[in-house]
Amino acid sequence: AAVEKGNYRHFMQKEIFEQPTVVAQTLASYVHRADEVVALPQIDFDLSAIKRITIVACGTSYYAGLVAKYWFEQFARVPVDIDVASEFRYREPVLEDGGLALFISQSGETADTLAALRHCKEAGQTIGVVVNVPTSSMAREADLLLPTHAGPEIGVASTKAFTCQLAVLAALAAHLAVKKGRMDRAEEQEVVKHLLEAPACLNAALAHDDDIAAMAHLIAPARDVLYLGRGSDFPLAMEGALKLKEISYIHAEGYASGEMKHGPIALIDDKVPVIVLAPSGSLFEKTVSNMQEVSARGGQIVLISDKEGIEAAGEGCIATIEMPKVHPLIAPLVYAVPVQLLAYHVACAKGTDVDQPRNLAKSVTVE
Ligand code: G6P
Repeated sequence: AAVEKGNYRHFMQKEIFEQPTVVAQTLASYVHRADEVVALPQIDFDLSAIKRITIVACGTSYYAGLVAKYWFEQFARVPVDIDVASEFRYREPVLEDGGLALFISQSGETADTLAALRHCKEAGQTIGVVVNVPTSSMAREADLLLPTHAGPEIGVASTKAFTCQLAVLAALAAHLAVKKGRMDRAEEQEVVKHLLEAPACLNAALAHDDDIAAMAHLIAPARDVLYLGRGSDFPLAMEGALKLKEISYIHAEGYASGEMKHGPIALIDDKVPVIVLAPSGSLFEKTVSNMQEVSARGGQIVLISDKEGIEAAGEGCIATIEMPKVHPLIAPLVYAVPVQLLAYHVACAKGTDVDQPRNLAKSVTVE
């Protein structure tokens, strides 16, 4: 049956709001609620023997991979290389025995990613695929198939596929950590507990839709927007910038908070909104000091944080968006929602074609 928009104005909006449901649906096949264990589909190779992970993807899927790099290294202590697919083969990557090559794709058909997959296959890597279309080319060529259960994604700008990819990748990172003897039973239970909190936290984030819609006019007139984040929220800053570019046609860049002083700070004046993604926690203080560098130059800050973070640093911001307080593991899933909604409402304010942005395609099958 054809997918309908129902009561929503756009497919993208519908897909943003589907996230609590589809992330729960996806998690249901990767964690056992009752036993509090992470469980992957049947694997016919020894995951504990994996020495290195090579991640390859494009666009939004690439940013999911960047978040996962933090997780694989932090939890499983397995080194990760990551490339955008169009660059991967040309840098002549070193692919040693015992490597897992992981491809992340909504469509499973992106030409650059598929070419990289075949290259890795020839080089003897084990092929893992995180994909939303189970009948796709990439799914067929996988040794380890890890489907996301986001359902059909129609909006060209990816949203629900991204959070479902993150859910699968978090489960994979935890599972690998267990297999590598880096995560004990109690830690695994903790991870499972936090992952299962994600759908409710996504709902809490979605509850701020009206606030975000109300502040879209602050961003819509901008020529340039900067997104800042630290740690696993740095890829989220890049994803936020990508969403804004894709559908509102405003130039945006995502930067690591601490790297801003090496360039982008030169752009800051009172015409440049700066969106700061900063959940309270160990990295918060440092990000706040980067934020103050922006304020001192007249930059217009939108702070996305939890109650604690907003109380500590919200003063002087042109707007704040309050997220629930979440465990760092699920922060990238939850903070995806406000950056998606912000791009969405800015695009609506500008009257662009949200579901079919100019010059872009849902699936890019040319290299
Ligand atoms: C296109 C789409 C993006 C998507 C990217 C990768 O550029 O417009 O939304 O992130 O392709 O697609 P994939 O299907 O491989 O995830």
